[in-house]
Amino acid sequence: MIYLDNAATSFPKPPAVAESIVDFLEHSAGNPGRSGHALAIAAQAVVAATRSQLAALFGVPDPARIVFALNATDALNTALWGLLRPGDRVVTTSIEHNAVARPLHAMAERGIEVTRVACAADGTLNLDDLDRALRSGPVRLVAMCHASNVCGTILPVREAAQRAHEHGALFLLDAAQTAGVLLIDVIEMGIDLLAFPGHKALLGPTGTGGLYVGPSVRLTPMRQGGTGTRSAEEQQPDELPEALEAGTPNTVGIAGLGAALGYLQQRGQPAIRAHEVALTTRLIDGLMDIPGLRIHGTGDPARQVATVSVSLEGWEPVDVAAALDSSFGIAVRSGLHCAPLAHRTLGTFPRGTVRLSPGCFTTDDDVDQALAALRKLARTAA
Ligand code: ALA
Repeated sequence: MIYLDNAATSFPKPPAVAESIVDFLEHSAGNPGRSGHALAIAAQAVVAATRSQLAALFGVPDPARIVFALNATDALNTALWGLLRPGDRVVTTSIEHNAVARPLHAMAERGIEVTRVACAADGTLNLDDLDRALRSGPVRLVAMCHASNVCGTILPVREAAQRAHEHGALFLLDAAQTAGVLLIDVIEMGIDLLAFPGHKALLGPTGTGGLYVGPSVRLTPMRQGGTGTRSAEEQQPDELPEALEAGTPNTVGIAGLGAALGYLQQRGQPAIRAHEVALTTRLIDGLMDIPGLRIHGTGDPARQVATVSVSLEGWEPVDVAAALDSSFGIAVRSGLHCAPLAHRTLGTFPRGTVRLSPGCFTTDDDVDQALAALRKLARTAA
């Protein structure tokens, strides 16, 4: 099988991920921070080590400001519901995934004002448009993705964060498509809240992710419960990470994520990014030669992550994906990619697109086979 669906979740994982999970289950699977016996201490050590690895990766000085979550959606909900109150205004963009768009839609019904800045049809964000939105009234938060999960376009994070701060707003980054492949430094980039999945380019298992909470942010917990700390008190503790980590964490997944982060560090994010830019260049160059095929996005590998959306004349996107799977053993994702707003922006709503997303283990040959398959499909209408 040729796997070109890394934007949904990365596959395969580095072998150390499965090894670490098995080792954890066999030797360390106590409940972290809850008991004083050897297994609980071993589990706590794994959780603490992974937290420190994540802090180092994102330039976070205090690892306690990294809170584990189920995935990026969970982290984004923790941030948005924990921060915004009726009367607040949030500025966001028109290429957000439902992980941002749906919580904001629900919050708009509860008295939170949502201003959506329109991106261009290639997914790019014009900073003048952001400026205009920021100037139109007080703003509590600017919330945006680092890169589109549909067409891969990278947004100008540093500039947007700077403008948010100039207007007294906090900056929340959805790094679902970038954490692990683009360098992220929360201090240098001015990120107050960073939501990330563990299972995409960080190469860990599903059920992992996290939220960085900057020193200038105070979130009200969405969940209360046991933390293993201040157990005599009825109220949820204030301290991070416990305040936002009620209940037993996904220790098994966190063990796997720790191993994945070890692999990332060894291979190096810049090397992975270079590999993915080369694959994207090869893919886009080949796609441009296919008659009847249209690429959505900038078409510039330097301005996007390795996520490429296309339409093929005479074909429904869903049928292209099914044919690639059944006739060629190639896994891609078609349709709306849980991002209807982004597809409206790209002009591909409601049919969506066919999305090809290579990853750090994809080879040139995988890309060439996908191109050959699409060339064949282009010669035959569905
Ligand atoms: N958000 C993931 C995707 O884009 C699941 O496919």
